[in-house]
Amino acid sequence: AIDLVGRHFIKELDFTAEEFRGLIELAAELKAAKKTGAEVQRLRGRNIALIFEKTSTRTRCAFEVAAADQGASTTYLDPSGSQMGHKESVKDTARVLGRMFDGIEYRGDSQAAIEELAAYGGVPVFNGLSDEWHPTQMLADVLTMTEHSAKPLERIAFAYLGDARFNMGNSYLVTGALLGMDVRIVAPKAYWPADGIVAEARRLAEGSGATVTLTEDIAEGVRGADFVATDVWVSMGEPKEVWDERIAALAPYAVTMDVLRASGNADVKFLHCLPAYHDLGTKVGREIHARHGLTELEVSDEVFESAHSVVFDEAENRMHTIKAVLVATLAGH
Ligand code: CP
Ligand code: NVA
Repeated sequence: AIDLVGRHFIKELDFTAEEFRGLIELAAELKAAKKTGAEVQRLRGRNIALIFEKTSTRTRCAFEVAAADQGASTTYLDPSGSQMGHKESVKDTARVLGRMFDGIEYRGDSQAAIEELAAYGGVPVFNGLSDEWHPTQMLADVLTMTEHSAKPLERIAFAYLGDARFNMGNSYLVTGALLGMDVRIVAPKAYWPADGIVAEARRLAEGSGATVTLTEDIAEGVRGADFVATDVWVSMGEPKEVWDERIAALAPYAVTMDVLRASGNADVKFLHCLPAYHDLGTKVGREIHARHGLTELEVSDEVFESAHSVVFDEAENRMHTIKAVLVATLAGH
């Protein structure tokens, strides 16, 4: 078994493939235990701070339910509810919260802020999403892939289409490389991950046997894929003005039935971390519709609602995998 007690969970690059796989296995065990009523509480009496400088549905709820299931308490600090970054430095906040809590989750734009919390908090720190990485999402996605494919991870091929310069694209590239998978980034070149991240992925791939592909060509990118994934084209914290440029550049990379068919795999599955713009039935969506006349963006409603789509299993798995992180780092495996 893996020993991650006292460790932070702030980026995939900090973990070996064995450790990452260990977390997936633990998550699967915890999921099975919850479903059969056999869950054992390993975090009774623990207290976890949840700092959200950006909004969240899944990540916040996953931490709260996971902690409650395991007997721990949570304190939610909303985007306007703490002094951190406004009246008080990250370093001081870390030293205060570290005196009261056993673990600290943080969602914000800055990876550097998470690293600073980790350096000064004295307790495990969990990245609930930064502009650079979304590591807890990767655990959920990999668990979902193992559930929906009979193949071992190193034989699974997945393609990510869309803006790959942000958290999801970076995390998919590095996670696929770490775990020895066949990972493809399919996007216009200007939207590929930064050179340094691609270099890290290639370095990992040499050790793991992963195949790392970056391509602008959709047919090449999705051919033979077991999973096709995407994410929003404009991420939290970006100005509304960039929608025009993103739609122009990324519209050809929208995941439609044609894209799924191009995989040549009748069983291909669709992943999306959510929230998704598949019907534009939201306030932001209606604004985009009024301006661009579009009714769907990064994924068609047809794909999203099809039998290919496993997005709600993926969303559920956020909770089981975050529980695995809490148990492994705070109690032991
Ligand atoms: N996928 C994800 O992180 O969702 P939330 O923004 O709702 O937490
Ligand atoms: N790239 C998206 C992911 C949301 C879970 C964002 O940062 O807004």
